Amino acid sequence: MPSLIRSLLKNRYLIPAGLVAVVAVIGLASFGSGAGGASNGATSSAPTAATNPIGRITHGLGSVPNVNFNGGVALPQPVGSPNYLGGRKNSGGPNSSIRIYRHQNGHKSLVAYGNSSIIYKTPPASYIKPGAALFAQNCAVCHGPAAEGTSIAPNLIGVGPATVDFWVSTGRMPATSTAQVEATRKPPRLNKLQSLEVAAFVNSLDPAVPFVPYVNLKGANLSKGASLFALNCAACHTITGAGDALAFDTFAPSLRAASPQQVAEAIRTGPANMPRFTGNLSDSQVRDVVAYVTKKIQHPSNPGGAALGGVGPVAEGFIALLIGVGGLVLIAFWIGDRA
Ligand code: HEC
Ligand code: HEC
Repeated sequence: MPSLIRSLLKNRYLIPAGLVAVVAVIGLASFGSGAGGASNGATSSAPTAATNPIGRITHGLGSVPNVNFNGGVALPQPVGSPNYLGGRKNSGGPNSSIRIYRHQNGHKSLVAYGNSSIIYKTPPASYIKPGAALFAQNCAVCHGPAAEGTSIAPNLIGVGPATVDFWVSTGRMPATSTAQVEATRKPPRLNKLQSLEVAAFVNSLDPAVPFVPYVNLKGANLSKGASLFALNCAACHTITGAGDALAFDTFAPSLRAASPQQVAEAIRTGPANMPRFTGNLSDSQVRDVVAYVTKKIQHPSNPGGAALGGVGPVAEGFIALLIGVGGLVLIAFWIGDRA
């Protein structure tokens, strides 16, 4: 037996072969999750959020509970108030070229706004009643029966329907644990209709914008989307959209599972530690970014070969180098043995 081990150790194929095997195993293990997220569209390959030591939700850079739960960004103001979101034209607010009102009992209320790039719609009034029941069952325990907020979850009054639909449709809400630093994407518990119903109920308490965006991807400019993405999003989500860690146990998630609507919602509402983009991105620019994310990032063409998880050139080059060099050494030994 010892002689077998000794002869094995003398075998010069062993080390290069081991090298290739180890790298291949590490590569498969760490990139499997990323590739899975991309293909089934249901999971995110972002790192899981750690539990924070004081067991309460903190926001952004170590802020303490009872502070602004929107990452320090002012909440959208109710329609009609002087500082409602979107004072500028074409920036996600109702100051848009298309505005549709409902007239009822001499009362006029805005139900949709936007332009040819994005139409923002508020869920119909008939959704409020079923939404109230869903809210009582799924949300009130943390957010309070009238969405007024509690010591464990923020006030939802006046956040606007897009914010509620984003958090519910991405499965972040209902949260499973209030000890998580950052609510993560997971398979949604409520379906698309129920998400809009809950949004309608919450919005009925204090109507606000942004409404839920419906993006018209026709006519989107992918190359403009690519440069806007590089400029505004890649710093956190990385240039391939694979996601990356931020400070204090928070992270920017992978963008491979988000629907066009969810990408637009994220941009216009700025969930948690993500900034809210309003005046600096017009609706047609948002449409370009959404098209780039959902067409290019989610379906990369990888002309250079396998993407290796899209984690970046250094890690990918390292793997190629190890596998390549290991393979060349093996081939050299084999040729030498035959000679
Ligand atoms: C287990 C407790 C819990 C339940 C249940 C829950 N939430 Fe939350 N919710 C939270 C916490 C905690 C946060 C803050 C999380 C964060 O910022 O990462 C939050 C954040 C939110 C936000 C973001 C608010 C903002 O201003 O950014 C929305 C919207 C929301 N919840 C809606 C809902 C809805 C709708 C339901 C029911 C379908 C629900 N939540 C159920 C705990 C909960
Ligand atoms: C400062 C860092 C930062 C920047 C810049 C940023 N994001 Fe984010 N983004 C985040 C964080 C953090 C989250 C997770 C928020 C949460 O906890 O719900 C997020 C979430 C998202 C999501 C939700 C993903 C999912 O599957 O649920 C999308 C989509 C998104 N961002 C798109 C964008 C786009 C497009 C841009 C550029 C216009 C952008 N982000 C810029 C930090 C950032």
